[in-house]
Amino acid sequence: MWEPYRIKVVEPLPKTTRKKRKRVLEKAGYNPFLIPAKNVTIDLISDSGTGAMSSEQWAGMIEAREDFAGQASFEKFLDAAKSLTGFPYIQPVHQGRSAEKILFGLMLREGDTVIANTHFETTRSNIEALRCHAIDLPACEKPFPGNIDLGKMQKTMKQRTNVRAVVLTVTSNILGGQPVSLENIAAAKKMARKRGVGLVLDACRFADNAFLIKQNGEANGSIRTICRRIFGYADIAYLSSKKDGLVNIGGFIGLRDRKLHERLEYEIIRQEAFPTSGGLAARDLTAMTGGLSDSTDEHFLSAHIGNVAYLGRLLKDNGVDIFEPVGGHAVVITTRKDHAHFAFALAAQIYLDSGIRVGVFDDSVRLAVPRRVYTREHLSYVGECVARAYTTSLPRLKLVHKPREFCNFFSRYLPV
Ligand SMILES: Cc1ncc(COP(=O)(O)O)c(C=O)c1O
Repeated sequence: MWEPYRIKVVEPLPKTTRKKRKRVLEKAGYNPFLIPAKNVTIDLISDSGTGAMSSEQWAGMIEAREDFAGQASFEKFLDAAKSLTGFPYIQPVHQGRSAEKILFGLMLREGDTVIANTHFETTRSNIEALRCHAIDLPACEKPFPGNIDLGKMQKTMKQRTNVRAVVLTVTSNILGGQPVSLENIAAAKKMARKRGVGLVLDACRFADNAFLIKQNGEANGSIRTICRRIFGYADIAYLSSKKDGLVNIGGFIGLRDRKLHERLEYEIIRQEAFPTSGGLAARDLTAMTGGLSDSTDEHFLSAHIGNVAYLGRLLKDNGVDIFEPVGGHAVVITTRKDHAHFAFALAAQIYLDSGIRVGVFDDSVRLAVPRRVYTREHLSYVGECVARAYTTSLPRLKLVHKPREFCNFFSRYLPV
């Protein structure tokens, strides 16, 4: 599927020599997250906040009037978010993790349990910071590997009396954006409701999930209709708009409970800003409104997810072991047990050879494709370079700094 936009503004891609990259890599402790972006030619470390905005979004940002309260841009954003999700109460926040921190701070008490298909790492960290337990119950079955394991969910809810929330991350980020089926969401909702527990969606990639539901033949109709059905099951949804929402910063929480919304507003004032801003400038709210509208364009989703699938096929055809089916926003190269610190070693080799930066999560390499940024030609080049690095003898690394948490972001290595 061809990309449904043309390019108006371009940025040059930084070019570096192998000698320079070697120095950069050593200084970064062989951790791709610690490489300064100015030394990266093609950046696939994250799809979060890295997408390109449309000319309409940029124009709206210039026109937006900055006020402390009651911003006009807030009203437009509210209409767009309500119409997409169907939630009666919407609260903007500056990004996904602030939604997690504030929301779980209100919902949980020490010792509570939250179960999920998969918790994103900041979600888990925010829950654990409240001295609560975050339990992952992924089903990992095709064609919806993002589903929660309903059998295990039932068992866990029986065993633990303190389950306070069920979180479904759509799509599940962990293996590159694996979709959750409508059937699974509906069943999880039913099971949670029986025990008086709320269903919470971490809905950063709601549009990818809706598109993959349609592609897998589970539902027909427009992407917006499928999104409405997904959100319709949830008691609460929070999302970072930096992914499917097509902005560089922003997020929001959708709720049905008026009292919880009121308590949320107090917390927002304490932690973010006046509720009509949610810690964002009016221009950011305007960009979010445009992003929500663009996000459900089926032609765009088909092109973007098609590009991710194309990269996956290219790697597989060239002998690279990837997780299948390929998800919505990224291709994941599975770990190899015959090489210590395989993912960091492969990421280092790819960077050294080509200046391409990839992410490392749980000893897998993740190639996340920013939205509306790179062309197929770029991805062909990525496929070629990654496949070549994969078959090279990788550097042997030794861990020299292991942080207490968030190891993939902060650990450091030295070549042996
Ligand atoms: C599934 C998921 N939830 C939450 C977050 C946190 O969002 P943010 O980066 O906007 O804080 C992310 C970020 O990548 C994510 O992928």
